[in-house]
Amino acid sequence: MLDLIVRNASLPDGRKGLDIAVQDGRIVAVMPAVDAEAAREIDAAGRLVAPPFVDSHFHMDSTLSLGQPRLNESGTLLEGIALWGELKPHLTVESIKARALELCRWSIARGTLAIRSHVDVCDDRLLAVSALLEVREEIKPWIDLQLVAFPQDGYLRSPTAVDNLKRALDMGVDLVGGIPHFERTMGDGAASVRVLCELAAERGLRVDMHCDESDDPLSRHVETLAAEAKRLGLEGRVTGSHLTSMHSMDNYYASKLIPLIAEAGLHAVPNPLINITLQGRHDSYPKRRGMTRVKELMAAGVNVAFGHDCIMDPWYSLGSHDMLEVASMGLHVAQMTGIAEMRQAFDAVTANGATVMGLEDYGLEPGCHADFVVLQAADPVEALRLKPARLFVVRRGHVIAETPPVASRLALDGEELSVDFSRTVQ
Ligand code: FE2
Repeated sequence: MLDLIVRNASLPDGRKGLDIAVQDGRIVAVMPAVDAEAAREIDAAGRLVAPPFVDSHFHMDSTLSLGQPRLNESGTLLEGIALWGELKPHLTVESIKARALELCRWSIARGTLAIRSHVDVCDDRLLAVSALLEVREEIKPWIDLQLVAFPQDGYLRSPTAVDNLKRALDMGVDLVGGIPHFERTMGDGAASVRVLCELAAERGLRVDMHCDESDDPLSRHVETLAAEAKRLGLEGRVTGSHLTSMHSMDNYYASKLIPLIAEAGLHAVPNPLINITLQGRHDSYPKRRGMTRVKELMAAGVNVAFGHDCIMDPWYSLGSHDMLEVASMGLHVAQMTGIAEMRQAFDAVTANGATVMGLEDYGLEPGCHADFVVLQAADPVEALRLKPARLFVVRRGHVIAETPPVASRLALDGEELSVDFSRTVQ
């Protein structure tokens, strides 16, 4: 007797008509017509079953704080940073935890079961670190949460950040972060990248830096980050987040930079919803898009994942942790409307994010964790188009969230009819 069988699933890679058999929290078979019984069966009825959504770049300490102590009037990055500075003195462990756990419940309902969150270490009390370490433990049965020690006010610029960042790592934060473009000079930025990568290498930790998050075509910190990853043998363990300045860089320089990024095994995590709204603010017209060169990085073999970054916080008033919304914005901004490109956009919020986070046993093969989402859509492209209901969210073989199928009914001239947005295109 198996624990769970999902019948007649379509997989993101295009395979159809498969049953997924689950025992003891693991997938034990993916094949047509599994001849066995299970304690629970789910009929996917040909719908898409995908591995869980992964948000590889998020800020859980600030999420759902919108309006505290006031709204971001201009909607800009710099007013957002100033606003977060105003809120910080009023934070408590309890309030941070309550907001973070509420967000995690949203994530689970949306099928997002792995999150890498940056946590600001520029508050000497390290309240957010304490709170999110507790959240990481409490939410562990349902969400893989990784924490990055993030010096929001600058590692060298903020007087106590060097000490605070080390303390955060000692407390158990998983990764080393940074914000080189926010240091006072290009030189300080490069120095911060070097010191932080050395710190990560010493401690055997991964690195995830906010890097070149500006429209400055001459920002060069991702170059330093890639060079340091190579120098310190950190290939495959370093992520450059945002990388928005790459949008504005000279094409010759980009043609030299992208191979270096690939050689260094850097992961790239743009955040489409935030990049498109916060960048290009000094432009009149035409306005730059402010998202990094996604297609060119992917073509060079760089692992690119999309992050949500912010939800209802000082920087972004919107969002519900739907990673399909992120992927949809990413494919629009990057003009990834080719057939293969749309599937790559889906991968950018699933498998590629898992690669960024180094998640083990992620996927829909026998032996993987029995973690997956049944969507009210036939395939990844329809999922991107409809952002459909997550009918079942399964973690380690247990259904942890259900959403009924969405159906609309029309009443036109007394005649009632239902509207089905699904439309299969071969
Ligand atoms: Fe961020």
